[in-house]
Amino acid sequence: PGVVVGVDIGGTKVLAGVVDEAGQVSSTALRTTPGRRVVTAQVEDALVEAILESAAGQALSGVGVAAAGFVDSRGERVMFAPHLPWQGEPLRDLLQERLGCPVALDNDANCAARAEAHHGAARGTISALMITMGTGIGGAVLLEGHVLRGANGMAGEFGHMQVVPDGQSCECGRRGCWEQYSSGNALVRNARTLMGEQPSVLEEMTGGHPDRVTGPMVTAAAEQGDLVARRAFASVGDWLGVGTANLVAALDPEVVVIGGGVSAAGDRLLEPARAALQRTLVGAAHRVVPDLVAAQLGPQAGMIGAALLVTSALGAERRVS
Ligand code: BGC
Ligand code: NA
Ligand code: ZN
Repeated sequence: PGVVVGVDIGGTKVLAGVVDEAGQVSSTALRTTPGRRVVTAQVEDALVEAILESAAGQALSGVGVAAAGFVDSRGERVMFAPHLPWQGEPLRDLLQERLGCPVALDNDANCAARAEAHHGAARGTISALMITMGTGIGGAVLLEGHVLRGANGMAGEFGHMQVVPDGQSCECGRRGCWEQYSSGNALVRNARTLMGEQPSVLEEMTGGHPDRVTGPMVTAAAEQGDLVARRAFASVGDWLGVGTANLVAALDPEVVVIGGGVSAAGDRLLEPARAALQRTLVGAAHRVVPDLVAAQLGPQAGMIGAALLVTSALGAERRVS
């Protein structure tokens, strides 16, 4: 007996928390993700530190990991991660050895989708899409509460669908990916560009250094009515709707759940996205256009879903033994 910890590692932060069987979070710990050019052991150190800090001395019965990358279908390795240094990293076994407890691993957006299906905005749906807006865009397709895995475990990588031929270069090594136009990175890039065109409170917030702009700063500036920040959101929101229209054309879901850090902006992001979805979805006048809703578990969805994953793995083990 001990606690279950869920941990979500994205391109900028690591969030760990003790999560009970009902999905309730009791304590959390936050770390900054070591940059992309570090050795992988440093990333693993940050994970272990956040996990142990959140458990605060309690024994671990299991740890679930939501990772911002392509996880193999066995849940053992991160094969590739645009925002992290992992390539074929055997993360599950590495952490299992370091922590001395069972570890379960999946893609961050897949974990968020499971959490929203059990405890949040996708509860009771037959089909839903999860789109997480963080450093990049994560995605998952939910069918009756189950995440579509694909042949390699890599279904749902919506963020790297090409939306602009020869467009912005992406951390995945290609160009014109959706997440270059609609994500935390895109929000920051938009704001930096627009700062050159009109006055903004971001000038003050960054001491006149556009390279110091962060996503949360743009969110705060938009709250204050800053036009640069609002324009940056309008564009990210519009692109969110355009990409979603393509996914809806392909999959016809009941609901589309938007999570990740950028979704903290709520309607500032969702309103332009809904308008763009309505405008660009094929046959919009002749069908039910799915609702675009904010994740109910907010930025904790990935962490909670990771804990769910290991809890159900532990339960399955108990049933066979
Ligand atoms: C990665 C995904 C991840 C997403 C959000 C994307 O760039 O390819 O695996 O889910 O970022 O973190
Ligand atoms: Na996914
Ligand atoms: Zn890409």
